[in-house]
Amino acid sequence: MKALPFLTALVATASSWLPVNGQADTVCQAADRTFSTEAMPASNFQPYDKLNPIVGKLSTKFYITVVNLTPHRIKLDGTHSYQMDTFDFGDVPQGRARQNTVKYRGTWYTRDDAGEAYYRIDGTDKQFALRVKSYIPSSDPRRVVLDLSGMGLGQREYVFPGGDTAVSLVITGSARFGFRASLRHGPGNWMRGMYDVIRDRPVRHLIMPGSHDAGMSKITSKIVSIGSEENTQNQGVSIYDQLRAGSRWFDLRIGSVHPNSDAGRNNGFWVMHLSDEMATLAIGNTGESLDEIVSEVNRFTAENPGEIIFFSLRYLVGRYEFPDRGPILWDAALTNAFFSKLRGINNRCGNLDTSTGFQNQPASYFMDRNGGKGCVLLLLTGHLDGEGVPREATADGIYDISRINIQDHWSNKMQASDMAPDQIKTWRSVQRGGGSADYGSLLIAQWLVTPDALASTAYTLQSFALEPTNPSLYSAGVNGMDPEHWPNVLLADYVGVQRQDEWAWDRLSAELYTLAVGLNLYLASENCDVNTRRSPLLRRSGEEKGTVHRREEALAWNGIIFANGTTIDAPPPTLHPGRAEVLRSGTVLNNRTVLEESIANPWP
Ligand SMILES: *[C@@H]1O[C@H](CO)[C@@H](O)[C@H](O)[C@H]1NC(C)=O
Ligand SMILES: *[C@@H]1O[C@H](CO)[C@@H](O)[C@H](O)[C@H]1NC(C)=O
Repeated sequence: MKALPFLTALVATASSWLPVNGQADTVCQAADRTFSTEAMPASNFQPYDKLNPIVGKLSTKFYITVVNLTPHRIKLDGTHSYQMDTFDFGDVPQGRARQNTVKYRGTWYTRDDAGEAYYRIDGTDKQFALRVKSYIPSSDPRRVVLDLSGMGLGQREYVFPGGDTAVSLVITGSARFGFRASLRHGPGNWMRGMYDVIRDRPVRHLIMPGSHDAGMSKITSKIVSIGSEENTQNQGVSIYDQLRAGSRWFDLRIGSVHPNSDAGRNNGFWVMHLSDEMATLAIGNTGESLDEIVSEVNRFTAENPGEIIFFSLRYLVGRYEFPDRGPILWDAALTNAFFSKLRGINNRCGNLDTSTGFQNQPASYFMDRNGGKGCVLLLLTGHLDGEGVPREATADGIYDISRINIQDHWSNKMQASDMAPDQIKTWRSVQRGGGSADYGSLLIAQWLVTPDALASTAYTLQSFALEPTNPSLYSAGVNGMDPEHWPNVLLADYVGVQRQDEWAWDRLSAELYTLAVGLNLYLASENCDVNTRRSPLLRRSGEEKGTVHRREEALAWNGIIFANGTTIDAPPPTLHPGRAEVLRSGTVLNNRTVLEESIANPWP
């Protein structure tokens, strides 16, 4: 085991000698930084052929990525494995991610395979275990239990999403602040929960999940085209559930649908996903209606006040039901009809100061509005170019997108292994904090791949998201960040969805939510040019225990969620699915010792 890094030791013992309420506890100081620059093993990406479900099912190799957004080192206590060629786990330093590798020997073993990795959070009494076990016969044989019962954060059994891909665990918080992990979603209004932490940060220093083609959570066929669920649906859950799953930036493409015989009539405003909205012949389909979206947003903000929600509204043209005659440009009447739908959204923010880019306003400028209920910002970026067509209605909170400076980076790559380095390069090229060097825009990282129509139809956009793409955000993406380098919006397909076609709210998983919370709480807070006060995870006095933590305590849960959805809220303390009670003779320990006879599992 490696020696304790000096700074971690300092954090663990600081309370004994630093003055409580002294300056050291309120001011961010470079010497407090815990972020580790230790190199991690390079992350692997799912090879293309494993997307084929038949090939993927035969794979015996997969990964468990652990993301550490805490000021403590996560230390490996030990591992054991049986029937495995590779069982490679290791420490996860502060601010880093480790993609741990599991590879079965030969083919599948049904009854006697075992593999567990035991971890503890350095300098605390918290521990957790990762328990790998296969179940044959079963349609979902490859599983891992993330057992965080030793942190009071429950246990959850996950099925690996596909061949050679990862299940991810994101942990944030601290011993002082309290911990949270990605097994379950926290409160819907996560921004309000960390109001004390982010209120003074300009919006361009926030980090938030975003939803790509957000309204394409279903296929509604309001236009006649070949867009199908496989190649045109980008999300598994509605805008309401995407909001609950943490999304705050919505890429929404809206068009009006017109009868083939009458461009003057409008069959309503619908989300569209088209190959090219301006093309003579458009290929694609429609998703949610604007009416549905309005009521979903209103439901969310009524239940979860205090957030900043961005709607980037694109397209803004009409198409015929049979979309083969080019776009119908909106005239003033159609645009006003659209605006009056938008006025149905509650908690809009009219009459904002437009002399300053919205990205430069502190978060509190928006979060405090509407009596503390926050802002739904409507930002238009479509084809509103006609004579006399309004481009905004600032009194109603409808703004041109140019009111906020954004850089929207799309890689346009089919493979996650090509997309990831391209995205990381973009956010590494901009500096966060540091006076005039500070990057002035909101950087949208499109963490998604763009398969061609043939590949997306064959393998589905959902598989591309859940197998090669989303899991790589937690390994490659996180290791491309540090306190000076990160994107603002993590734009993703299938937000909240961890497992193919499992779209019910209680089947979702909170990796993206917890990542965003942790990047704001931990990573950005370690940059003293972004965060002038002491990191919320290191404070001791007064306000150090944020509302996040108090709310988490109120929601304390140490149950078990099984892969089939069965949930036990109060399991007996001895119930640990996937745990090997006996380590058989032939079991390999992580110090490469091979057991010559069977022993009882020595770990608690
Ligand atoms: C779900 O899995 C648990 C644990 O394996 C099992 O006890 C339970 O019977 C299963 N429920 C269903 C409905 O299959
Ligand atoms: C390996 O670990 C086991 C269990 O902790 C221990 O008993 C054994 O002595 C270790 N072997 C070596 C070579 O360090």
